[in-house]
Amino acid sequence: MGSPLSQIDVSLSTRSYPVIVGPGALASLADLLPQGASKIVAVTQPNIGIELDANYGAHVVYIENGEGVKSFTHLESLCRKFVELEISRSDVIVAIGGGVVTDLVGFAASVFHRGVPCINVATSLVGQVDAAIGGKTGINLPEGKNLVGAFSQPIAVICDTNHLGSLAKAEMQSGYGEMAKYCLLGIDDLEDLAFDTQIARCIELKAQIVAEDELESSGRRAILNYGHTLGHAIEGIYLARAGQQDPKVEVIKHGVAVGIGLAFAGSVAFKLGRISRERLERHFRVLDYFGLAKTIPGDLLPDDLLRFMGHDKKAMFSTPGSGISFVLDGESGVELVPNVPEDILVETIKELY
Ligand SMILES: NC(=O)c1ccc[n+]([C@@H]2O[C@H](COP(=O)([O-])OP(=O)(O)OC[C@H]3O[C@@H](n4cnc5c(N)ncnc54)[C@H](O)[C@@H]3O)[C@@H](O)[C@H]2O)c1
Repeated sequence: MGSPLSQIDVSLSTRSYPVIVGPGALASLADLLPQGASKIVAVTQPNIGIELDANYGAHVVYIENGEGVKSFTHLESLCRKFVELEISRSDVIVAIGGGVVTDLVGFAASVFHRGVPCINVATSLVGQVDAAIGGKTGINLPEGKNLVGAFSQPIAVICDTNHLGSLAKAEMQSGYGEMAKYCLLGIDDLEDLAFDTQIARCIELKAQIVAEDELESSGRRAILNYGHTLGHAIEGIYLARAGQQDPKVEVIKHGVAVGIGLAFAGSVAFKLGRISRERLERHFRVLDYFGLAKTIPGDLLPDDLLRFMGHDKKAMFSTPGSGISFVLDGESGVELVPNVPEDILVETIKELY
């Protein structure tokens, strides 16, 4: 019987790095450590409950749970911990966790001593199919998410699918939103595959897109934001409400918002005559397969969504004077489309309540 693990290489212009995927992938860590690394420092969250084998002799640093740790305060604490542990550029940092951990730790590793090698052990579904791969690291500002960061690729990524067994259902659901995105970006047979293979195929597609546009400079990488324009607007409005009104308001999960964004983007593309009804129905079928919502919550007003979408675009794609740019499906696949008429967006929002 062959190994249940797959290796996917992220091929960059200057080097490539492996992503090891499958049940028990964590055992590959020993082979991925840089030769001669004298110290291994694992950074994780206590609730994740994944410990490195005692043989590694790793120092373990715990950080808090939640998006709040992606901050300058926590970045400083972590770097000061690295000083205390006397980490040097010949050591290795292992980030063990979901996207919050790999974003913060990857950024800290990229700036500490101007760069210490970092391995990501992605333990959430969002982390495995998305956050841990591709080199986007960073922290948030009160003004917005991920506003401070760096492109800094890990030296290897481990996606041990056994780790997903302890992940909360809502966190899995969030990952499904990203998997639905990959499915619509070009994995036509995803539903026919075993779950671990589905994850590996999503990673393969992400690796390929990152290799084509590592620094998001050609526009190619922008297609990874498929479904995210409306998705970010939905998240943004709920986050603002949670902050300003009722702190107990349930903030929608990222991937769930992306799922609604995919239904919306498909509907906009259909209205613009870019895709057939059959292709639009494919969008809905994929969302149904993953048990994701296809309708916009009724308490989100078109004007508010439009305002947030415009803001998001300004941050992500600078196309001055071209109105709202949107990642949309079409005859030649998903691509960035400038000048999407606002009336079509509003009409589609109203249809999706
Ligand atoms: N850098 C990128 O390219 C990229 C891409 C997508 C998302 N992100 C970022 O990732 C973050 C979201 O990532 P996330 O959804 O993984 O959230 P997260 O890291 O907060 O993890 C979600 C929750 O699951 C817990 N958890 C993780 N693995 C677990 C396990 N195996 N068992 C039990 N609990 C576990 C975490 O402690 C946390 O409570 C956001 O900050 C987002 O901005 C980054």
